[in-house]
Amino acid sequence: MKYKLYFVSAILFFICAGCMLYFGYKTFYMKTEPGEIMDYTYHFALVAEEADNDYWNLIQKGAQKAARENEIYLDYIAPKKADNDEALTLLDRMISAKVDGIITHGIEGQKFVDLVHKGIERGIPIITIDTDVENSERKAYVGSNNYKAGQLLGQAIIKNTKGKQYIGIVTGRNDSISQQERIAGLEQVIEAHPRLKIVSLEESNITEIGAAQAAYTLLKEYPEINVLTGTSALDGIGIVEGLRDIAPTKDVLILAFDTLPRTLQKIQDGEIEATIAQDPELMGQEAVDIMIDLQANDLLENKRYIDTSIIHKEDLQRNFENGEEP
Ligand code: BGC
Repeated sequence: MKYKLYFVSAILFFICAGCMLYFGYKTFYMKTEPGEIMDYTYHFALVAEEADNDYWNLIQKGAQKAARENEIYLDYIAPKKADNDEALTLLDRMISAKVDGIITHGIEGQKFVDLVHKGIERGIPIITIDTDVENSERKAYVGSNNYKAGQLLGQAIIKNTKGKQYIGIVTGRNDSISQQERIAGLEQVIEAHPRLKIVSLEESNITEIGAAQAAYTLLKEYPEINVLTGTSALDGIGIVEGLRDIAPTKDVLILAFDTLPRTLQKIQDGEIEATIAQDPELMGQEAVDIMIDLQANDLLENKRYIDTSIIHKEDLQRNFENGEEP
């Protein structure tokens, strides 16, 4: 009887100890990648336009890859929802944290210019990514030539239409410099073609639902619209979804921006005619590489444009036949 009691107690003891170890590990285990926290060469910060945005996640992916390869500790920070004031606060915070370099989305207005000046004065190199602010003291810009990208969009409209066209634009945010540059490029190309008319513009707040609502507003106010074009990454997808609800039988040519998988799927399905491809992953990668160079020297070349191109359904097919991912 006595031995039986010892035996049961021992079993209970081992079960309790096992549980303690297992749950303790689950609660307190922190993932530390070699070289990620302790042994880094530099500490950089990447200030994005919006956290958890599919496009910015790609920039982050490229930047983290380059950071890992070079044993750099990279902080990725962004407002939950795109917001210039919040992004400026984060930028200021990173300057106060005295990181070794800041890669940031360019923000419209004097406050950004002043903050960049503050950072540079304190010896922190700052570069812009995706959206430039040329009149700031940023050391370099890495991203698309947004004016040229807008021109490509205009050319896609010209190429894919005949006769009179009424164009509605769904733009990410009115106070985004890159969006303004894209629209300026689009307008410049359209101007030479009197058959094409831009009738109005609505903001999507860089969200899919915002783009669907923008498409709705545009079509309600201007039923003559027969071309809808997005100028930021989730606009094309939102326009298609919005149109499906509002006017599923209406014949509208849709153009988009960026190559997120759902946009490419909609091109494949014939719902979006074409999109302008940017390379956000490469932007992130190059930005970190440039920031490393800046730790030793100033740069001679302070604009690193990453190529943009127009993608149609045939291009996806061609890539597929060549064994590349569409
Ligand atoms: C733009 C980014 C923007 C993103 C929104 C991209 O096309 O380059 O500036 O933040 O769309 O999803």
